[in-house]
Amino acid sequence: MRIAVVGQGRIGVIGAVALAERGHRVTGVERDPVRLGSLAAGRAPVAEPGLQCQLSHALESGRLRFAQEIVPSHRRDPYDLVMIAVGTPPNADGSADLSQVTEALDEVAALLPLPCVVLKSTVPPGTSDRLIGAHPRLRERYACNPEFLNEGSALDDWRAPARVVVGIWSQEVLPVLRRMYQGPMCPWVVTTPASAEMAKYASNAFLAMKTGFANEIARLCTGAEFSVDDVLRGVGCDARIGHALLRPGLGFGDFCLPKDTAALARWVAESGGRAPLLEAAIEINSTQSGLVTETLYRELPGELDQAEIAVLGVHHQPWNGDLRAAPSRAVIPRLLAAAARVRVWDPAVGADQLTRLFPGAIPAPDLRAAVAGAHAAVVLTEWPEIVEADWRELAARLARPRVVVDGKNCLRTEELAGLPLLYRSVGHRPCTAAPVAYEVRGRQPARSAAYEVRGTQPVPSV
Ligand SMILES: NC(=O)c1ccc[n+]([C@@H]2O[C@H](COP(=O)([O-])OP(=O)(O)OC[C@H]3O[C@@H](n4cnc5c(N)ncnc54)[C@H](O)[C@@H]3O)[C@@H](O)[C@H]2O)c1
Repeated sequence: MRIAVVGQGRIGVIGAVALAERGHRVTGVERDPVRLGSLAAGRAPVAEPGLQCQLSHALESGRLRFAQEIVPSHRRDPYDLVMIAVGTPPNADGSADLSQVTEALDEVAALLPLPCVVLKSTVPPGTSDRLIGAHPRLRERYACNPEFLNEGSALDDWRAPARVVVGIWSQEVLPVLRRMYQGPMCPWVVTTPASAEMAKYASNAFLAMKTGFANEIARLCTGAEFSVDDVLRGVGCDARIGHALLRPGLGFGDFCLPKDTAALARWVAESGGRAPLLEAAIEINSTQSGLVTETLYRELPGELDQAEIAVLGVHHQPWNGDLRAAPSRAVIPRLLAAAARVRVWDPAVGADQLTRLFPGAIPAPDLRAAVAGAHAAVVLTEWPEIVEADWRELAARLARPRVVVDGKNCLRTEELAGLPLLYRSVGHRPCTAAPVAYEVRGRQPARSAAYEVRGTQPVPSV
């Protein structure tokens, strides 16, 4: 088949590469000239296992090419199908901004001959109905086919999806979709466009409830008699529940869950309904990153304006290059607002980008420099460089009271147990046994002598 994929963000580029892999002739259409140039040069715009290699392969095979506009190539050699995978970012009130989708559909509706259209973007229930109202000619050729892939296994999820949800008004388009997918062995849920749209939102709302539930249980299990990991393992072994996402952490982390749950909540409010479970999931996940400052206020002896804090890692997950909703985006500004001096290090983000993302924080050139002389280290990404570091040496570089807040519960507690530091994680009871050599003097408004000061601040220039 000849297929155009409009929008080459994460979803579009993965779709384009996966479709080329299936033998289709694919054009990735991207209007951003910088992104287009880098794609045409064979550089994947997002980090995703296997993507770079498969992108190069698809380009070399000639089955994938890129273009800035759809019209000229459609005139030369018409597309059988156009997939729309443009962004639906949040508006200020939480609703989905549908301007990219509307614009893309207007472009496709003007093509002659008329191709089939598949909407991959995540849109609120009822959007397809409204959009097609303006383009009734497309109705028989239209499918809403939301994307359910996971960041970190996106290509594999395309190759072997858990389900394909298709919302259509006419059976006419179904064989075209089956040819496009080449029939993966998974359930096909063929339904109305509004139900397909709702299936995507409801799925993300459920995932948000699951992470929110894990965080709520973690908050209930901080007493010495609990191990939250064992509790959640005990819960997740039930096949009706499962282990996925049943881990306490610092809240949502990826871009889609906060965006889509907020858009669903907005849709519910506009429809005059109520969704208390959804509201609770949003509330608990969006306040969870506050645990970092809460812990630092509790464990550091003075106000945070006396403290040097090293933030280690700014990604939500090492394989997820999307920093738009990473907990670091909430944690670091909160620390800076409390007037803490913050240095930040991430093995995959350069000093310039760190400065742009976190104005006021000082980028550190490496892990050791980041922790040298800091009173607390806050771990926000389970980078191997951080998890497998020599924490005995890092502990010696930290200044008293040497607090380590593990926002990912990723450090090896058995290694930390004997070290002279205060280790705190999410939902775990304190595990550091060795007493630390400092006196707790409570909160002190002026400069606190409880913080160890090691001369001038030790972050080497970068
Ligand atoms: N990121 C995910 O993991 C994920 C998962 C499931 C669903 N989704 C949904 O998929 C959709 C796309 O997500 P994304 O993260 O890839 O978005 P994105 O915003 O990163 O990328 C969208 C791209 O489309 C381009 N674009 C917009 N209008 C265009 C047009 N008319 N012609 C050509 N290019 C155009 C933009 O320049 C941009 O590069 C969203 O609705 C999102 O909610 C995303």
